[in-house]
Amino acid sequence: MADKTSNQMWGGRFAAGPDAIMEAINASIGYDQRMAAQDIAGSRAHAAMLAATGIVSDSDAKAIREGLLTVLSEIEGGTFEFSTALEDIHMNVEARLKEVVGEPAGRLHTARSRNDQVATDFKLWVRDQLDQAAEGVESLMKALIGQAEAGADWVMPGFTHLQTAQPVTWGHHMMAYVEMLGRDLSRLRDARERMNECPLGSAALAGTGFPIDRDMTAQALGFARPTANSLDAVADRDFALEFLSVASVCAMHLSRLAEELVIWSSAQFRFVKMSDKWSTGSSIMPQKRNPDAAELIRAKIGRIFGANVALMTVMKGLPLAYSKDMQEDKEQVFDAADNLLLALAAMAGMVTDMQANREALKAAAGSGFSTATDLADWLVRELNLPFRDAHHVTGSLVALAEGKGCDLPDLSLADMQGVHAGITDAVFGVLGVDNSVNSRISYGGTSPMCVREQVAAWKTRLGL
Ligand code: ARG
Repeated sequence: MADKTSNQMWGGRFAAGPDAIMEAINASIGYDQRMAAQDIAGSRAHAAMLAATGIVSDSDAKAIREGLLTVLSEIEGGTFEFSTALEDIHMNVEARLKEVVGEPAGRLHTARSRNDQVATDFKLWVRDQLDQAAEGVESLMKALIGQAEAGADWVMPGFTHLQTAQPVTWGHHMMAYVEMLGRDLSRLRDARERMNECPLGSAALAGTGFPIDRDMTAQALGFARPTANSLDAVADRDFALEFLSVASVCAMHLSRLAEELVIWSSAQFRFVKMSDKWSTGSSIMPQKRNPDAAELIRAKIGRIFGANVALMTVMKGLPLAYSKDMQEDKEQVFDAADNLLLALAAMAGMVTDMQANREALKAAAGSGFSTATDLADWLVRELNLPFRDAHHVTGSLVALAEGKGCDLPDLSLADMQGVHAGITDAVFGVLGVDNSVNSRISYGGTSPMCVREQVAAWKTRLGL
């Protein structure tokens, strides 16, 4: 018999218990208790299968399945006492089950190992996060679509290099983020589909000699099918890495939007007013409205992408099949998931509640010679100039306006004709920002008409 201090689950061949520091480095219960519900669901499915295949008796399986519900309610009710000596959630649950139902509990671990158990639990947890993240992304898309619909024809400057480029519409800018998030959504769904295979029954690494029914457990846990290679099944953390990489791209998108909100809400830009709900004050400067939530969202990519790099690094040199290194997967994913969901929710709130400053947007849209391209296009269209020549003429007109300290529409016809004699009064029709955006009707362009089409298309796709 094992020494009393050796581990009650695997201590049979050990004469003494672990060093306290060994226990500390080995234990994951401090964080993997978050997978309690998944662990118990997996064990209940396993027990039902063991009975259906005649590996354990119906009465033992019944006792196990009911006992597991008792354990779950203790955990949910906060009365469960987690033990570091029992390392992880799997052994904590099983040890408590033994206290609750006695001898049948010992039969639960037939034809499985903690290796397929943890892979199953973690997959269930990650799958749930993929679903929640998809919901979060959809809510944010909805908020952006709301803004786009309201401001399909509000003009604002479009930038490249953060230099005024051409006028665009507010709706178009909002819908650009909808496109990005739409790709995130499809990546989340795609990752979910690929990961939805059940590792349970792969046992330690080689499968089992017991006549288990892996389709039954896979189905009970909502998986599309069982995994096809037991070595791969216990060694695979691709699903977690895919979650982290999809989360990283999504967080990067959120960070770009957050950055724009920080810029736009500054006193220099005044493009948007963030609602009080999403702003903070300064303890010393009374005039301040700080966009803290946007700044924190901008920063979240750091830890989310960090988690991606960390887990990739953990996994990269591991021989098949399971190694304890893999226990380091969970904290990274938990942290990334928590922060992604929080960032998505905060961004959806900010976008819903922010107010575009239409006057400031419009004034900025017309400044910085933003309709220079329209002018060049007009020269091509009306005077039949080659585009390169039109570009040159327009450049001279911009220089002229710059010298006079005015914008293009403020130049007189005589000024313009001094640069190119063929220019007529009609040119002023294209120098206005509204005309500029209204003319951009190529598919995917910034015109209010195109924006409304895209809004309608996304509403249909999202069932709004
Ligand atoms: N706590 C472990 C983990 O998170 C469970 C699997 C342990 N398996 C083992 N063979 N020691 O990875």
